[in-house]
Amino acid sequence: MRGIALFGKIRFLDTTLRDGEQTPGVSLGMDEKLAIAQGLDALGVDVIEAGSAMTSEGERLSIKAVADFGLEAEICSYVRALATDIDVALGCDVDSVHLVVPVSDLHIQCKLKSDRKSVINKAVEVTEYAKDHGLIVELSGEDASRADQDYLVSLYKAGIEAGADRLAFCDTVGVLVPEVTADIFSRLSQLGAPISVHCHNDFGMATANTVAALRAGAAQAHVTVNGIGERAGNASLEEVVMALESIYKINTGIKCQDIYQLSRLVSRMTGLPMAPNKAIVGENAFTHEAGIHVHGLLADTKTYEPMHPETVGRKRRIVLGKHAGRASVELALREFGILASEQQLAQIVVRVKELGDKGKRVSDADLQTIADIVLSIQM
Ligand code: KIV
Ligand code: ZN
Repeated sequence: MRGIALFGKIRFLDTTLRDGEQTPGVSLGMDEKLAIAQGLDALGVDVIEAGSAMTSEGERLSIKAVADFGLEAEICSYVRALATDIDVALGCDVDSVHLVVPVSDLHIQCKLKSDRKSVINKAVEVTEYAKDHGLIVELSGEDASRADQDYLVSLYKAGIEAGADRLAFCDTVGVLVPEVTADIFSRLSQLGAPISVHCHNDFGMATANTVAALRAGAAQAHVTVNGIGERAGNASLEEVVMALESIYKINTGIKCQDIYQLSRLVSRMTGLPMAPNKAIVGENAFTHEAGIHVHGLLADTKTYEPMHPETVGRKRRIVLGKHAGRASVELALREFGILASEQQLAQIVVRVKELGDKGKRVSDADLQTIADIVLSIQM
């Protein structure tokens, strides 16, 4: 195991196998969970939330298989504040539980039909029960971003008293903004236990909020590969890690060069394709067509790439279409070993653009045909 929370080092709890699997239509079997868990472990995440032990017998077998595989990461199950949930998690041999209680009045009253005091009592009782049975406990507030923050603090304090090792704050419906996130985590990081940030992407701010929380003192980020998860998904592992590494120059300890391979594996196993413009792992994230950009890239890749594609296990791709220019066409021709004169190159560019104007991406075969035609004309 990579050990329990350490102040100072940013930790990652990956919930691809729990919150990610809650994506509508996704169901992962044991072999798939094991393969993804191995990939996550090799990548270097600290905690793998392998599922929710109370969900089904199949889920329990999968969690147990992950827990018994001997990975370095801490293996965790999601549980509610019920002793019976702790019992089934124990049966799966997990190291820890992500013990979740609703904390907003909306959730406490509408969903749980309970009251604030009873929620604290239950959280304390089940935290003590889990600790008595040797589990690491991460006590988590669901819908924390819409909760009364003073109530939330009293719940967290009661949880720490009861033995909780870590706390978690869930922006369940993705309504945080970075400046509010920073204020919240500046306060919560003073409570005496490491706190995790768990963000959803309903307004496209999960990554920004997660990074803001970490910069304000959060010790651990909850993330999923490819940002998969309920509705618009969770904070994406690859985005949070690369923002920290590339923009803030923080060494996360994650093996970034393996990110793309794991992204492909998760996409295949969940059946969830990536949008072409998805940051870091989308098909177009390191693909260039525009002539001006390719011209710049040939001089220095930093002109139009904020990071080297190889950093995340990818390659740069130059494609041809109506935005192509001399530089990109010449580069593509060179890759086929075709040398064209200035005049021929100009002709090829014109024909590439003509094809592009018809709404086509110009394939390798198209380019070769164009080049054959132009080069066979005497100039
Ligand atoms: O987003 C959320 O609130 C959650 C909790 C149930 C942990 O995923
Ligand atoms: Zn969630």
